[in-house]
Amino acid sequence: MQSSATYLANLYQEKGDLHYEGEGVTQLTHAWQCGQLAKAQGASPQLQLAAWLHDIGHLLSKKEGTPKIYGHDDRHEHVGGNYLLSIFSEEVGQPVLMHVLAKRYLVTSYPDYRKSLSSDSIRSLELQGGAMSENECSQFMALPYAKDAVSLRTWDDCAKNPDLKTPTKADVIAELLNLAMECQ
Ligand SMILES: [Fe+2]
Ligand SMILES: [Fe+2]
Repeated sequence: MQSSATYLANLYQEKGDLHYEGEGVTQLTHAWQCGQLAKAQGASPQLQLAAWLHDIGHLLSKKEGTPKIYGHDDRHEHVGGNYLLSIFSEEVGQPVLMHVLAKRYLVTSYPDYRKSLSSDSIRSLELQGGAMSENECSQFMALPYAKDAVSLRTWDDCAKNPDLKTPTKADVIAELLNLAMECQ
């Protein structure tokens, strides 16, 4: 039987070249860049894997593109987070499940954060519920894995650099496979 790690590697092999709409990078490049940022910050293997796979919901859903394209919230964080919770620990799945909430938290808590978002991310923010209230921010930060989700979110926002040199697709997929096997 195919292992979950192999399934994930095959999924990115097959669909990783999909353009990350509005961002100038592919899904695989975005995943890789996010994972590298997590690694550079000394994140645990589980949080690194969460960073790599935070947008897997886009690949698992039938729809291509982002909310900007089809005009409603695709809830990709739920599709991806719940899938990952079915095969990995909460350390992997929860930050993925919470990475959209983390954006809504950061917009309220750090006024300059909104300015740093790409236009597509601002557009999707409104579709995802907009900025949190102060009360929602407090409740969010009290949740387990909220800090990890906020870290993941900051890497996510920086992982859209079209000019960063990426290793070959085969090397990137092999790196993902090794990390996923380590976290199984
Ligand atoms: Fe996302
Ligand atoms: Fe992302």
